[in-house]
Amino acid sequence: MDKMRVGVIGCGNISDIYFKNLTTRFDITCVQACSDIDMERAKKSAEKYGVPQVQTVDELLVNPEVDIVLNITIPAGHYDICKKALEAGKHVYVEKPLSVTVEQAEELVAIAEEKGLYIGCAPDTFLGGGLQTCRELLDSGVIGTPVAATAFFGHHGPERFHPDPAFLYKEGAGPMLDIGPYFLTALVSMLGPAKSVCGMATSGFDKRIITFDCPKKGETFPVETPSHVTGTVTFENGAVATVMTSFDIWGHSLPFIEVYGTKGTLRMPNPDTFGGPVFLLKEGETEFTEIPVSYPYSENSRGVGLADMAACILRGTRQKASGKMALHVLEILKGILDSSKTQAYIQLKTTCEQPEAFTDKSIRL
Ligand SMILES: NC(=O)c1ccc[n+]([C@@H]2O[C@H](COP(=O)([O-])OP(=O)(O)OC[C@H]3O[C@@H](n4cnc5c(N)ncnc54)[C@H](O)[C@@H]3O)[C@@H](O)[C@H]2O)c1
Repeated sequence: MDKMRVGVIGCGNISDIYFKNLTTRFDITCVQACSDIDMERAKKSAEKYGVPQVQTVDELLVNPEVDIVLNITIPAGHYDICKKALEAGKHVYVEKPLSVTVEQAEELVAIAEEKGLYIGCAPDTFLGGGLQTCRELLDSGVIGTPVAATAFFGHHGPERFHPDPAFLYKEGAGPMLDIGPYFLTALVSMLGPAKSVCGMATSGFDKRIITFDCPKKGETFPVETPSHVTGTVTFENGAVATVMTSFDIWGHSLPFIEVYGTKGTLRMPNPDTFGGPVFLLKEGETEFTEIPVSYPYSENSRGVGLADMAACILRGTRQKASGKMALHVLEILKGILDSSKTQAYIQLKTTCEQPEAFTDKSIRL
């Protein structure tokens, strides 16, 4: 099989799983080069995963042996690097969020379209076995027409497990932009695009202390974006979702995502993971039944959206984890944050097509 050659920019915390999956999990990808502002990190990753070339960012962007640039730098680095990569004629796949602003994300999608290049964006967990099983159930009509949904995420902040978490409390991050993409991408992939949003937000703490056992343990940094954000999203199909994302909560007993239909309820797994469990309750029943996960990629399959994009590039077909959907999701998330400041409902300007579901249960990318 032809392999698409990936150039990885950003060899930080999340890069290990990408290197592992792109080099061993997917047949359609290999990693040709890697780069980081800190070249020592790039060298270490190259040694660990047998990557042929370690290059500066500028070198990697014009490397003729790189087909797809994978941008897994911090959110503030997403726009510049993606733009340069597209301008250099490379297809791009980027970690979420697509950019820090909707305008920048729009520009990236427009450049890709103009140049006939693919731009894809994480999260790709909606392509995991758990959420694809949910998608099949929803499409089968077993819960009838979706009327409403809930999406709840809350813990007490990434400073408990991330070695360098300050960026997660700056503009462009916070729980809604850092974790919200998993929840809203899952909902958009299930229900289709949204049309309007409103939101409210607060912060429980002005400063956070790194408690994770790492070199920066004990360091304090400021909270620069709301750390508890709630919103309501109206979808084009009429369904209404209630969303909460928080870095201020020690514990809660809320489900991750539920979709309430005219004939039943679907309880979905954590959309920040690829597996189950999936639960279904049908009209008249009093208890949920667990439904077996029936699609592949239910272990940590980060990069499956990139692998699908690579296959689509080779076949000239439509990718699933598209930049257009990521742009729409970003506008939803930003809209919730903006509405929390202006106290106004926001009509969304962007839209996207619902991604196709996997139809082949034995798919191997
Ligand atoms: N850490 C996670 O669990 C996780 C999970 C899912 C998604 N993500 C997303 O992945 C991205 C990266 O997160 P992370 O946790 O790996 O961050 P990180 O800070 O651990 O790693 C980012 C890496 O990018 C490098 N970098 C930053 N700016 C650069 C630039 N301009 N040019 C070249 N290299 C640059 C840094 O030196 C660092 O090695 C973020 O968008 C984040 O939202 C992270």
